[in-house]
This record gives sequence, C-alpha cells and structure tokens, in this order.
Amino acid sequence: MTDPVMERIRSEFDAILPPAAGLTPDEVIAAIKNHQAEGLLFTSGTKFDASFIERLPSHLKVAATCSVGFDHIDVAAAKARGLVVTNTPDVLNNATADMAFMLILAACRRAGEYDRVVRDGWGKFYGMHEFLGTEVSGKTLGIIGMGRIGQAVAQRARGFDMKVVYHNRSRLPAQFEAGATYFEKLEDMLPQSQILTLHAPGGAETSEIVNRDTLALLPRGAVLVNTARGTLVNEEDLIAALNDGHLFAAGLDVFKGEPKPDARFASLPNVVLAPHMGSATFETRTAMGNRCLDNVAAVLAGRPASDPIW
Ligand code: DGY
Repeated sequence: MTDPVMERIRSEFDAILPPAAGLTPDEVIAAIKNHQAEGLLFTSGTKFDASFIERLPSHLKVAATCSVGFDHIDVAAAKARGLVVTNTPDVLNNATADMAFMLILAACRRAGEYDRVVRDGWGKFYGMHEFLGTEVSGKTLGIIGMGRIGQAVAQRARGFDMKVVYHNRSRLPAQFEAGATYFEKLEDMLPQSQILTLHAPGGAETSEIVNRDTLALLPRGAVLVNTARGTLVNEEDLIAALNDGHLFAAGLDVFKGEPKPDARFASLPNVVLAPHMGSATFETRTAMGNRCLDNVAAVLAGRPASDPIW
C-alpha cells in the first residue's frame, strides 16, 4: 500500500497490519478471529476459495480485494456465506493499458535485448543489421476482451495509426469501440492480428484461449502481449510458437505459475518479462487502496459497497 493509503488506514481504522513477509491463510484467519475484525483487505495473491471462505468468522462483514480481477475468489461461496466482497474497477484502466502498450513496444522493438546488450558492453557505434525489430505503427492490433482496459488500449492504438480489431463476448455500443472492428468469432479475427493483446478476465470460460490452434491462426511473425491472466495462455504452446519463429516476440506480465513463471521464458531472448505490474504506478495503487477503504468503510457504516462483485 502506498503511504497515503497507509496513513488513511492508520487514522480511520483500528487496523491489524501484517508483517512484511505476509501471513499464511491460517494466520489470516487467526488474526481476524483474535481481533474480531469486521473488514479485510487482500490481493489477488490470496486464494479466496470456498475452504478459506468457510473458515472466516461470522463477524467479518466485508473483504476488499485490491485488484479488478476476481478469479482468485469463489464468488458463489462468498455469496452463500453472505460476505460482501469488493474489487477495484476502473481506477487501473490507464495504468494497465499503458503497461500493455509498453510491452507491445518493448516486444516489437526488442527492448529487453537492447538493454542487455548495452549493459554487456556491446560497443558498436551503429548496428545497421543487428537487433531489427518489427514496426508497431500501422499494424493491425487484435484485442481479446474489450472491457474498460481493452478500450483504453484501443484508444492508445489510434495514436499509432493502428487498425484495431476486437473479440468480446458481445459487440460494444459504437461509442466504446474507439474505432475498432468487432469480430464475433475469434478465429475470424486472429488471421488479421499482427499484434494480439489479451484483456479478458481469468476463469474457466477463457482458460487457454490462446493455444496451439489459435496461435496457428495468427500471421507468421505476430507478437503476443498478455497483461490479463496467465490462465488465458497454454504456455507450452506459446513457448513452441516463440521457439519455431511463428511468433516474433511476446510481452508477458502474467504467467500460470506466478510468482514463479516457467523458467524457459527467461531463456527466450524474444520475450519481455514483467512481474504482474500492470497497475503498479503510485497514482493507481493509491486509487486502488482508497477504493478498497471506501468499500470497507461503507459496509462497516451500514451502507452498500460501491464495488460489490456479487
Ligand atoms: C488486477 O487488478 O486484477 C491485477 O491483475 C492484480 O491482480
């Protein structure tokens, strides 16, 4: 949590702060019980599944995840238990869209390799032939998941003269499309997507939506960027496509095995890696923390939460 959020926690709440190393699920339950806590702040690193929810004492009224995604939460179990659970929509749209665009640029222009070669003392004045990237401007960008983050990415793409196509559960009203063209069928959109960026939620419906078959539909030399959830991608198939040159590069902020991504990604020069940092700006993390506290404060004061997930 940022300093302004910590100040607010200390001044407005009788809070139990976890140690820097964090707490195990058992320790969280024990702390809630021992302090008769009524509200809980957590992140997507906490597996908020049915067995955890069942053990939460009844005095806990509200649990606020400091994330927009809630695939780590068993919503049905929370509902059955009557626990108000909230998330932090909207406030991270720009930061996450910036991150997606940073990875698009970094993957297309081989930023990771440039950085490493300069640090290693490359020593050439001007390499005419080495480390050539692929242009971003003018390319066609495919977006899977045209929620608020996907829309913010589409807006940025306009500044790069990109053609934008998108696939979503349903077509958006024209004012939210940012000039993008809707494809009802993913397999019809992929052959056009020279750069593909993922902005769909995690969960069973989107599990491994990027796999050998869908990757094969991308044009040769395409670039994949994922700032959404690792579960969207079959990583074996992605690694194969990066190794055999079907994909030019990938930019990955999320992985299946977080916090320990598949080690093979680190040995692929054409992959730019980030440790799940899409929303990691001071401004956005402050806004997310405040949003959590607003939700907790509302429920504890007997008012409805502004961001309930059920
Ligand atoms: C989010 O807000 O969902 C981020 O991915 C952190 O989990």
